Order: sequence, then structure tokens, then C-alpha cells
Amino acid sequence: MRAMCLAGSAGKLALIEKDMPQPQPGRGELLIRIIAAGITPAELTWYPTTHLQTGEERIGAVPAHEFSGIVAAVGEEVADAEIGRQVYGMNDWFADGALAEYCVTQPSSVAAKPASLTHDEAASVPIGALTAWQGLFDHAKLQPGERVLVHGGAGGVGLFAVQLARNRGAHVTATASAHNLEFVSRLGAEQVIDYRGARFEEQVRDIDVVFDTVGGETLDRSWAVLKPAGRMVTIASNAEGNMDDRVKQAFFIVEPDQNQLVQIGKLFDAARLQTVVDAVVPLSETPAAFTGSIRERLGRGKLVATLTAAENVLQ
Ligand SMILES: NC(=O)c1ccc[n+]([C@@H]2O[C@H](COP(=O)([O-])OP(=O)(O)OC[C@H]3O[C@@H](n4cnc5c(N)ncnc54)[C@H](OP(=O)(O)O)[C@@H]3O)[C@@H](O)[C@H]2O)c1
Repeated sequence: MRAMCLAGSAGKLALIEKDMPQPQPGRGELLIRIIAAGITPAELTWYPTTHLQTGEERIGAVPAHEFSGIVAAVGEEVADAEIGRQVYGMNDWFADGALAEYCVTQPSSVAAKPASLTHDEAASVPIGALTAWQGLFDHAKLQPGERVLVHGGAGGVGLFAVQLARNRGAHVTATASAHNLEFVSRLGAEQVIDYRGARFEEQVRDIDVVFDTVGGETLDRSWAVLKPAGRMVTIASNAEGNMDDRVKQAFFIVEPDQNQLVQIGKLFDAARLQTVVDAVVPLSETPAAFTGSIRERLGRGKLVATLTAAENVLQ
């Protein structure tokens, strides 16, 4: 099968297109024919991309761990009825990912693709929406009527955090670039702050939950806007490994969750949630997508790679 994988070693990694053996599903696993995969550029620096679970150096990883596609084969102990099902979801960070014609995953990491979304759109959802869901509801225990500040409201995760918080009945303030202010307010934010034009801590206070997708100085300055019992959640890759106890407690890594994917899918099909695809690129252009050098893009939402033309695999 065709795939994009990492060559070189830590610090000097490059993506190269390669022919690789098609993976086979093991016991209890699904083989997915990938139609589209979501791209998270920072993933190339994440620990599981460059390390094996044993801690040794990992060579040749296939990136992208969210996708939309079709169940192509099943391992032992999985019902044959699964074959042909259109699904969206994630696979394990340490497994070869979805920048390939096929990848292997667990049945509990996928759910039926929302009927209202194309495969390109569906591939842009799992990591962003699950991260927002788990950060707001599982970690911060957001309640209706509370006040939330979302940093990076136009990003691949932030756009879901704004919408899910609003759907839950929270009051949402978000930060974004000037060109995204109107977009983020259409998603449901009551106040959107241009982070280059103003200091957010001079505009908001008494926040119940900060959902931070930026980290660094933005995270440092955010503690001051929280209420005494306020909760901080950060997902920023630069917060991983931070030794500050408060940051350690605030940081988490998204996990696949079938039940949450089902609930997110229902919100799409009820037109209560929307996704935004920043640009769609063929496999050959994914190295440029990871370095941010794709020119034809909206500047908001998620980059998506198409692996297989949907009409070639859907009857
Ligand atoms: N821990 C986890 O489980 C997990 C999961 C997914 C992603 N992540 C990490 O989370 C981060 C965000 O991911 P993403 O996919 O949402 O990235 P993204 O699509 O690139 O979005 C980042 C957003 O941050 C905004 N931004 C940049 N500087 C800012 C600042 N100083 N203040 C406010 N907003 C600012 C940008 O807004 P404008 O375009 O409007 O300028 C952009 O929309 C990355 O570090 C990624 O690695 C972690």
C-alpha cells in the first residue's frame, strides 16, 4: 500500500512516500481502508511518533491517528458484519497511523461516520472534538451557566471547544486572530478577543474554566483570570513535560472513545455542531501540510489528506 512515513532521526525528521506491506488485523482488531485522514502538524514532535512503548527510538512511523473510512477486514472475534461499515475515529498513537491506504484499529476507537458529513469532513473531527469534549466535560466538569475562556478558538480543537461549551449552556469567551473573530463568534462565542491586539487578562476575569490550546506565555497569563475555584485545562504540546504541578494537573492527552464519538456524531446530524476543513491535500502534498506551507487554505480548522477516492470504495 502507499503510505507516508518518517525518515531520519529525532531533530531531523522528514516525511517520505513509500510502498509498505498492507497491515493485517490481529485478534479483536479492524482493518480500515482510509478515505481521508486528519493532520495535526505538532504530532511529529510527540513522544509516540519518535519512541516505541519500550522507550527506544522509533523509526519509520506513519503519522495521523484520526480518519474516516471503511472497515475492510476484521480480526478473529470481530463479527464479519462489520465489513463495509463507514466509520470515523482514531487509532493508537504508537501504531502506524492513517497517512496510508490502510491502518489497523480497535472497534472501541471508531463509530459510525455521521451521515451528514463527507469523509473529508469526518476525518477532521475525531481528535479535535474528542479533545474538546474530554477537556470540558471529563476534566473540567463544565456546568451550564459557567464562564469559559477558550484560547485558540479557530483552531482544530478550539472550534469544537467553543461549540461544545456553548451547547452545554456555558458563556464562552475565545481568543483568535483578527481574521477569525467573526468566524469564532458565529460558532457561539459571546466575546472574541484578538490576541495580538489586546491582552485577554485585561478583558476578562472570574472565569470558571480556561481551555488552553496555545500554552507557553498564554497559559502562564491565564491563571490570573480564573475564579478561586476555577479549573484550568491545557492540551498544548509545549505544556507536556512541564514540571509545574499546576500545569501537570491541567494537561491531558485525548483518548479514543466510541460513546463520545457516537454523541458527537448525533450533534452533527442534528446540525448542532459544525466542522471546518482548512484544506484538503493529496498524500503527496502532506509533507507541506505538516510544515504549514500549503497556500490554498482557509486559515482555520483542520488540514485533511485524501488517501482513496470515496467513489472507488463505496458501492
Ligand atoms: N493533548 C492532546 O490530547 C492534544 C490533542 C490535539 C492537539 N493538541 C495540541 O494542541 C495544540 C492545538 O492544536 P490544534 O490542532 O487546535 O492547532 P491549530 O489548528 O494549529 O490551532 C491553533 C490555534 O491557536 C491560535 N493561536 C496561536 N497563537 C495564539 C495565541 N497567542 N493566543 C490565542 N490563540 C493563538 C491560532 O489562531 P489564529 O489562526 O486565529 O491565529 C490557531 O487557530 C497543538 O499544540 C497540538 O499539538 C493536543
